[in-house]
Amino acid sequence: MTIGKEIHSQFWFPQQIIVCDDFDYKKIKNKFIEYCKKKQKEDKTGRNYSNCLGWQSKDILDNNFVLDYLYDSINQCLTNQLSLKSETKFKVDNFWINVSQKYASNDYHVHNGSHYSGTFYVQCEKKSGEIKLNPNLNYNTDWMNFLTGEYKNAYHIHPSAEFTPKEGMMLLFPSYLMHKVNNNLENKERISISFNVSFLQN
Ligand SMILES: [Fe+2]
Repeated sequence: MTIGKEIHSQFWFPQQIIVCDDFDYKKIKNKFIEYCKKKQKEDKTGRNYSNCLGWQSKDILDNNFVLDYLYDSINQCLTNQLSLKSETKFKVDNFWINVSQKYASNDYHVHNGSHYSGTFYVQCEKKSGEIKLNPNLNYNTDWMNFLTGEYKNAYHIHPSAEFTPKEGMMLLFPSYLMHKVNNNLENKERISISFNVSFLQN
């Protein structure tokens, strides 16, 4: 016990990553894959942003089952996991498809201009490429190596977080959070749909 002093810690900068698993996804998986492959056929060039080797669609403006599904899941995630001020609404700013063949990856990037961003896994296997989120990319986080595992876990002190892709899983995170996707080491294409969300006050 310290004498003559009051010492305590305050933890101020947590990063919230929302994870949603859709147990019924198998029922609609083929519809999603068909849709994504059709979009790729219609625009083989796509666009180059963070994608290395893989194909990325331009922003999709369709108002269809994909947007309905995304909107519904995002709504459940945000209302369930965040405590939003009353009258807060959100809109899906844009969404796009990523089709990544073997060895394709995505470089570190952020999604400027939105509040929350995320990705939904349409088709993947265990080694299709982990998503790595890293708010400390440009900083020296070596001091964390000196902390015990128990302490790091209890107070969420980690230089970065990594998630293994899973079909039917949606991840949501603040748009400023730097992230990348590791190389797809599977023979099968990794297909995902990424999106941006903005909050609005009514
Ligand atoms: Fe991204």
